[in-house]
Amino acid sequence: MKTRAAVLREVPGNWEVCTADLDAPREHEVLVRMVAAGLCHSDQHYATGDNPPEHLPFCGGHEGAGIVEEVGPGVTSLKAGDHVVTSFIPSCGRCRWCLSGDAALCDNGAGISIGKQLDGTFRMHLDGEPVGQSALVSTFSEYSVMPEVSAIRIADDIPLAIAALVSCGVPTGWGSAVNVAKVGPGDVVIVIGVGGIGINAVQGARHAGASRVIAVDPVQLKRDFALQLGATDAFAGHEEATDLARSLTNGQGADAAIVCVGVTHGEHVAAAFSAIRKAGTVVLTGVAPGAEIGIPVGLAEMVYYKKRIQGTLYGSVAPASGIPQLLRFWQDGALRLDELVTRTYSLDDINIGYEDLLAGRNMRGVIKFD
Ligand SMILES: NC(=O)c1ccc[n+]([C@@H]2O[C@H](COP(=O)([O-])OP(=O)(O)OC[C@H]3O[C@@H](n4cnc5c(N)ncnc54)[C@H](O)[C@@H]3O)[C@@H](O)[C@H]2O)c1
Ligand SMILES: [Zn+2]
Ligand SMILES: [Zn+2]
Repeated sequence: MKTRAAVLREVPGNWEVCTADLDAPREHEVLVRMVAAGLCHSDQHYATGDNPPEHLPFCGGHEGAGIVEEVGPGVTSLKAGDHVVTSFIPSCGRCRWCLSGDAALCDNGAGISIGKQLDGTFRMHLDGEPVGQSALVSTFSEYSVMPEVSAIRIADDIPLAIAALVSCGVPTGWGSAVNVAKVGPGDVVIVIGVGGIGINAVQGARHAGASRVIAVDPVQLKRDFALQLGATDAFAGHEEATDLARSLTNGQGADAAIVCVGVTHGEHVAAAFSAIRKAGTVVLTGVAPGAEIGIPVGLAEMVYYKKRIQGTLYGSVAPASGIPQLLRFWQDGALRLDELVTRTYSLDDINIGYEDLLAGRNMRGVIKFD
């Protein structure tokens, strides 16, 4: 079948909307009609070449929601008509990582920036050339074929534009606070960078009982949103956040600092490191350019103060259970999602959507398919 899809043909490059060929789903795969796709900064890292895709052309998009159109042989957990959210890690449920409760680290995740399906072949083609599918789900396409395990079934009554957010940005941010920083009652937490991911770290930290959530972002709109969605304080620079955290803790520092800057650098992690207390935690969620090495922190400080810097993928959420759970939190009023969709776009306007992301105009831009 044919599908209109936004692809990168070169890197650095812009998204080009083309008509691609899509094969039928094979064993343990499903065909999904996409309804909404979120514009996450991680796809921007592909386009700029900070972290280039490992195969070109490459159809982007890993955050999305849609409706199953057709299932391939052997699919038992889904049927046509089911509403699904895409998982950017196709967790198998059987590898060492899945079995030890770290499904976001599933060995199946190794190929997400190449974009072959799990049997090692491509499902999308452009003028006869194979096209990589971002995270194997390529949500920047009207239709997409993906592994059964990448399509997480959700209730039919949840609006799919809302559900799309719970595909990447919400679990990643929420889990960074709840699962990784392990925020507890009374904690003082700093979130550096409150865009699509960081705003949900703010929500997670408040949910977990933090007494103060201090948001840092140079963009006023982000700070205003953070204050509406649970931050108690907001600053343009990390120095003021650090000063406040120390003044609240008898000079000790924040219990945790979560770094969610769009293009993260070592200096952002170092700022978080200096803001935390003894035995505090820096959570590194934002992605740095792949070639960048090094975090300028005092090694002795790390030892004597027993400080911890912890990276995380997907906020260490297990997608198959965590995604439906977060939607239940939304239904119960414990998680706010509607406000996060600040603008919607047609697929053809995807580059405008990314310009708006870079200009700081959106919490989350979302592509809506007709
Ligand atoms: N670890 C994961 O599993 C995972 C998953 C998804 C996204 N990410 C990464 O998380 C990062 C954030 O993604 P996003 O979609 O929220 O991006 P975004 O562009 O929506 O948000 C980034 C925010 O950082 C702010 N910012 C820029 N410079 C800053 C600074 N010096 N101090 C404080 N804030 C600053 C921006 O104003 C913006 O609000 C990206 O690097 C993305 O690739 C990681
Ligand atoms: Zn993402
Ligand atoms: Zn696995």
